[in-house]
Amino acid sequence: ASATIGVTGLGVMGRNLARNFARYGATVAVHNRSAGRTRALVEEFGHEGTFVAAESAEEFVAALERPRKLIIMVQAGPATDAVIEEFVPLLDAGDIVVDGGNAHFADTRRREAALRERGLHFVGTGISGGEEGALGGPSVMVGGSTESYAVLGPLFESISAHVDGEPCAAHIGTDGAGHFVKMVHNGIEYADMQLIAEAYDLLRQVAGYTPAEIAAVFRRWNAGRLGSYLIEITAEVLSHTDQATGAPFVDVVADAAGQKGTGRWTVQTALDLASPVTAVAQATFARAASGQADLRAAYRGLPGGTTPPLSRTEAERFTSQVEHALYASKVIAYDQGWTMIQDAAAEYGWKIDLGTVARIWRGGCIIRAAFLDRIRAAYAADRDLVSLLGEMEFAMEITDAQVPWRETVASAARRGIPVPAISTALAHYDTLRAERLPAALLQAQRDYFGAHTYARVDRPGTFHTHWAAPGRPETTN
Ligand code: 6PG
Repeated sequence: ASATIGVTGLGVMGRNLARNFARYGATVAVHNRSAGRTRALVEEFGHEGTFVAAESAEEFVAALERPRKLIIMVQAGPATDAVIEEFVPLLDAGDIVVDGGNAHFADTRRREAALRERGLHFVGTGISGGEEGALGGPSVMVGGSTESYAVLGPLFESISAHVDGEPCAAHIGTDGAGHFVKMVHNGIEYADMQLIAEAYDLLRQVAGYTPAEIAAVFRRWNAGRLGSYLIEITAEVLSHTDQATGAPFVDVVADAAGQKGTGRWTVQTALDLASPVTAVAQATFARAASGQADLRAAYRGLPGGTTPPLSRTEAERFTSQVEHALYASKVIAYDQGWTMIQDAAAEYGWKIDLGTVARIWRGGCIIRAAFLDRIRAAYAADRDLVSLLGEMEFAMEITDAQVPWRETVASAARRGIPVPAISTALAHYDTLRAERLPAALLQAQRDYFGAHTYARVDRPGTFHTHWAAPGRPETTN
């Protein structure tokens, strides 16, 4: 046995991860269900480092130093269970099985418990950054036991992206915590992408800019507080021309958004946790609505708002408004994500350091952004921070955004342009800042039709009013 680590499942992600480990000097055992891929990897990239090609599961396991560390890089779901079942009988107590796929955290919790029974460590690990990240430095969110991280940590930290000399890899918490946080990362990714898309739509339809002009706006924004990978690639996409037609590329792409499901998982889980990640929810529903071809055909052309076109100066003013709206909404969307992580930590007994989550998302992952360093700093300064709005700079920025943010939502409504993510972020902010919410009325309604009881503002206890018998004193308990 000579390999430090093994990778089984040599699709693009698995192959690139194996190469990344090899480039950092690890001897990497590689295995794939069909051996052709294993041979291809060694033939093509063997010169990059030391690989041990294993044709069978037995050979693969025999190649690994103890405690064995093997990373499964296959499709989430039944394929992962099948591979686990294949390998577990070949392993010894103390060995570490890593699942580097986009698994659902509940599956990871189940698998971790099952393997723990058999004396094995199961480490659900979120890996972000796509194929490029897997090869050049991903962001790595590691779950599982602290004991297994002591062994795996240095390996993941060496191959991860680095920002300011710090690795974008960390132990997030036990069992499914790594995959949970990766899921929320993807949910935030959905929200951020939708917010950017809405800003683009406003600049196009209200300001009347061309895609190329909007690309220039995004490039400018990318140099400021909105600076991020997603803004950067948006500018690239918007300045791209379709070769076949000469039209702006964005205009030849069909406007029905797909999804593989991690955004939906985030929303489903958030409902169970009663954690209002409304920006992720709107972003996920916006993708779904874009694909409702029949409904859209039935409604297309129905009346909506209109406003006269903007002058050049007005368009410039409007652009600056949209920047405020996008930024403020982004702060709210990210804050909702962090709240959801806190809610889950309380539910599942994870000790998650919220600053660490921001730290390892600064590089390697899809939502990497300068902004995350400020979130890291906010949690470093105050570990018990309840919301980003409790941090002075963020609070000041949200204060400054008040007029432009509201104006942006109002302009969209007047013009009939859907901005579900931007407007839900504003609504969420207004919900949290409200002195009193109409939830009081909901409670009264619930008590009226279902005797669901209510609490009062003036004395403790649980109350029920006898609605059908006016005058009869309310019941307390
Ligand atoms: C990442 C990405 C990656 C993938 C998402 C998006 O962190 O590297 O999030 O996991 O791009 O699954 O997929 P959908 O938009 O298809 O859901």
